Amino acid sequence: MTGDSPQPSVEARAISKAFGGVAALDAVDFEVRWSEVHALVGENGAGKTTLCNILAGIYRADAGQVIVDGVERDFRAPAHAIDAGIGMVHQHFRLVEPMTVAENIHLGWPETPGVVSQRTLIDRTERFMSEMGMHVDPTAKIWQLSVGEQQRVEILRVLARGARVLILDEPTAVLTAKEAEELFAVVRELAASGLSVIFITHKLREVLAVSDRLTVLRQGIREITRPTEGATAGEIARLMTGEERLLSVEHRVVTGESTLELRGVSALNDRGITALHNVDLTVRAGEILGIAGVSGNGQTELAEVICSLRDLQSGSIAVDGADVASMSVRAVTDLGVGHIPEDRIGMGMVLSAPLKNNAVLHNYWTEAFSQGLTLDRQEVIDFAKRLVEAARVQTRSVFATAGQLSGGNQQRLVARREALAADRLLVAAHPTRGLDVNAAQEVRATVLDKRDGGCAVLLISDDLDEVLLMSDRIAVMYEGRIMGVFDAADADREYLGLLMGGHTPAEASR
Ligand SMILES: Nc1ncnc2c1ncn2[C@@H]1O[C@H](COP(=O)(O)OP(=O)(O)OP(=O)(O)O)[C@@H](O)[C@H]1O
Ligand SMILES: [Mg+2]
Repeated sequence: MTGDSPQPSVEARAISKAFGGVAALDAVDFEVRWSEVHALVGENGAGKTTLCNILAGIYRADAGQVIVDGVERDFRAPAHAIDAGIGMVHQHFRLVEPMTVAENIHLGWPETPGVVSQRTLIDRTERFMSEMGMHVDPTAKIWQLSVGEQQRVEILRVLARGARVLILDEPTAVLTAKEAEELFAVVRELAASGLSVIFITHKLREVLAVSDRLTVLRQGIREITRPTEGATAGEIARLMTGEERLLSVEHRVVTGESTLELRGVSALNDRGITALHNVDLTVRAGEILGIAGVSGNGQTELAEVICSLRDLQSGSIAVDGADVASMSVRAVTDLGVGHIPEDRIGMGMVLSAPLKNNAVLHNYWTEAFSQGLTLDRQEVIDFAKRLVEAARVQTRSVFATAGQLSGGNQQRLVARREALAADRLLVAAHPTRGLDVNAAQEVRATVLDKRDGGCAVLLISDDLDEVLLMSDRIAVMYEGRIMGVFDAADADREYLGLLMGGHTPAEASR
């Protein structure tokens, strides 16, 4: 039933769910209508993902009912929810990287013919994409796609299985501003065609831009459901967080020795295309150099070459005078380099492993934790406990797996661990992505502490406000090139924006 029907598409009634005795959801009511985009907001750990996992058949509620299109349901597996028309795109993608787009869309789809040629898969995929008005090269392998394209494949995968209620868990956390705009258009289009979309986000601007109604969760309790029209960002923020902690940052002009030096650095991306062109950069001890730019302009590759995770085509990179390009990742870590990676889940953690192991992921081999070949267990546990406490990770114990943490809590753990590891240099890629307002301020405060302690910080962020807030100097990156470097005092928002959009300094100053 779609269109003008006043009937809700999905309803959660008095849903409760606890993990190990801790309530993640406490008698939550939630109702979504056909043809609406419903924003679901709340701080890290508020219960957003848990609620949607229950609607999508991944978890079972301890109490309460799930009603789909007027019929009470008891999902015992995601397949049951999909049969009832509910599909979810997760915070972290679940595509099979070495396979093509067409293969991923057809994988495990009951309608996929048993024996099928690549040609047929590709034709079917192309037909479905044009029906949906969303396009990605069906022959491309997943690992070759941008994150935005991967997300489109995830959405297509779910829609191909007949989802009428689409749940998107923080879909824009990984997207560039342009990709996010494209996603909003897709989401509005799907709602206009009668579907329901549940849209989880921390970004209040997005709530206001894309949703018809919104629900705020706070510590497992529903605060409010209301029409978006007439709501203000300030009001939603207050409902989510109580008070916002403010951060004031004093910018510095630092002279003296450089900790990190890049000279004429060029490197390729995963697709073999030049992603860094002749990059020169210097970061001094005790300063934050912010890299401003739209994601996908070489920032990922920049962080990777510095941490020795990617080969150079030419040029040199030195940390405290030591040539890191020829070193192993471990040797670079031993120099005192910390890296908060963009892809925290793929690169920063082992989800199936307990927090205590994740806490020492990069330094378990050091003397502090191992004697000979054995890992000193008590030391590791104590260290992990201190880390969890310092990072304010919400968890029952350090024996819980990283996969059991909420997305934001996973991130806090990685950010704090890497900040601790960074004695000389911290490379922080989008350190506050996916964090709620207060958690983001905590991570920023951690980064500022490192700077004040004399560490050099390279901050990569596609949030220009964050770059302007945090950086002592700012470099703009566009298509793998440094377009200019500015002292914080001279940085002009509009001018930086023009450079980020590909204007040359000459064009931008006109
Ligand atoms: N599988 C699990 N095992 C144990 N605890 C869990 C599990 N999943 C979630 N939790 C806990 O339930 C609470 C709610 O988590 P949830 O993932 O729903 O939060 P969220 O609102 O999606 O947060 P974020 O914005 O950080 O993604 C958290 O305290 C989290 O640690
Ligand atoms: Mg979540």
